[in-house]
Amino acid sequence: MSSDLNSPFRTKTVEQSIRDTEEPEHALRKSLSAWDLTVFGVGVIIGTGIFVLTGIAARNNAGPATALSFVVAGVVCALAALCYAEFASTVPVAGSAYTFAYASIGELPAWIIGWDLVLEFALGTAVVAVGWSGYVRHLMHTNLGWDMPVALTGRDEGGSFDLLAFLLVLVLTAILVVGTKLSARITAIVVAVKVTVVLLVIVAGAFFIKADNYSPFIPHAEPQTGGGGWATAPLVQLMFGYTPTNFGVMGIFTAASLVFFAFIGFDVVATAAEETKNPQRDMPRGILGSLFICTLLYVAVTIIVTGMQYYKEMSPSAPLAEAFRAVDQPFFSGAISLGAAVGLITVSMILLLGQTRVFFAMSRDGLLPRLFSVTHPKFRTPYRATMLLGVIIAVIAGFIPLEKLAELVNIGTLFAFVIVALGVIILRKTRPDLHRSFRTPWVPVIPILSMGASLWLMLNLPAETWVRFGAWMVIGFVVYFLYGIRKSRLAQAGRDAEF
Ligand code: ALA
Repeated sequence: MSSDLNSPFRTKTVEQSIRDTEEPEHALRKSLSAWDLTVFGVGVIIGTGIFVLTGIAARNNAGPATALSFVVAGVVCALAALCYAEFASTVPVAGSAYTFAYASIGELPAWIIGWDLVLEFALGTAVVAVGWSGYVRHLMHTNLGWDMPVALTGRDEGGSFDLLAFLLVLVLTAILVVGTKLSARITAIVVAVKVTVVLLVIVAGAFFIKADNYSPFIPHAEPQTGGGGWATAPLVQLMFGYTPTNFGVMGIFTAASLVFFAFIGFDVVATAAEETKNPQRDMPRGILGSLFICTLLYVAVTIIVTGMQYYKEMSPSAPLAEAFRAVDQPFFSGAISLGAAVGLITVSMILLLGQTRVFFAMSRDGLLPRLFSVTHPKFRTPYRATMLLGVIIAVIAGFIPLEKLAELVNIGTLFAFVIVALGVIILRKTRPDLHRSFRTPWVPVIPILSMGASLWLMLNLPAETWVRFGAWMVIGFVVYFLYGIRKSRLAQAGRDAEF
């Protein structure tokens, strides 16, 4: 952190951050309440993670103990949420961890975080759109007996271009250009459908549990198969020279680093701070509330489905619906598929919204071209950034298989958590005077625990994910040192001050 405006560790003051949001040309409409935020949170949190990744994690990594993996991931997120909530209630402007870092540790760390969040939200949007497309094709196949031409399905199914995922992202982009309030209304309806489906799984599924399926609850460790070599082994196992294994106690953590994706989204709530009527009070409520509800639902769903079907037989693409098919309940199976297909739309949309808001904030600060942060005169949305990113993400969703993308999203998000926790400690020291309507308890203990827990999950991700993440960050450094370092508004303010 530095007050020297020529340093890459120059910080933007919290007051400056809030003032920026008041420039009419660059202002977003303040229309969201605590309820909107919670709906928003649940709307984005429950998605591909529980609907798809549960099956993969149970089959490959943890069996019925995947329920424990959700607990582990939930604890990591709760610690991070306690830090996020303090930041969001102190720096109530768009941009999430990016903005918080800018006000506390400096421009370069903020840029790193922003760049990292671009990865999280853009790829997250694409992952969910591809997952949605799979469910829709599944529904068309089972209900209408109609299959898309293979070439227009996703890469995972042997196709070359996922048309449905591509179109979904374009339609969502158009909705976001028109305005957040409209999106929030649609979100509320879809969230209701999604939560109903999850409750249906829990209540109806409870009648079909076979105790045998829970034995063993934590399957014995077995050597990793699949021929991925070092690349697919969790980094922590390579670091300590273990022969990489699946299942066993370490498998619970490997699965946790994957199903962590299921919790992504509570941090997105923080990106909407600037559009919240009373962020000081509503932000912490929205973030912690939605996280708590989702953790309970995930653990319950996982216990139920791993009790309904032996973990090795679970479907890797539609595990919740297939668990009901396995016990001869086609009606429930169909209803769940339909609900999942509807529900995944909001997830994709909110991730896209988070993405455009981070991009917007970075552009407003001059770290990306300023033309992206001019809001639409009528809709008051950052329409240029939304359209540009929407098209890029649509293409990514069309061409890139979702396998591995989720892990890349996770590592980026966990890294952001580490920086946010660090930021809480730093901001308490550098700006003890700031009003914080929500204070993280036991600072610095909770932030330190949060950093350690996030880092632990990162280490449980495959080595290849670390390599890809490293490559993305190197590109980010290049962009910053070629563009942002000279063009940022703070840099310009520094130059103005000199002359
Ligand atoms: N948490 C969201 C999901 O699981 C991103 O799809």
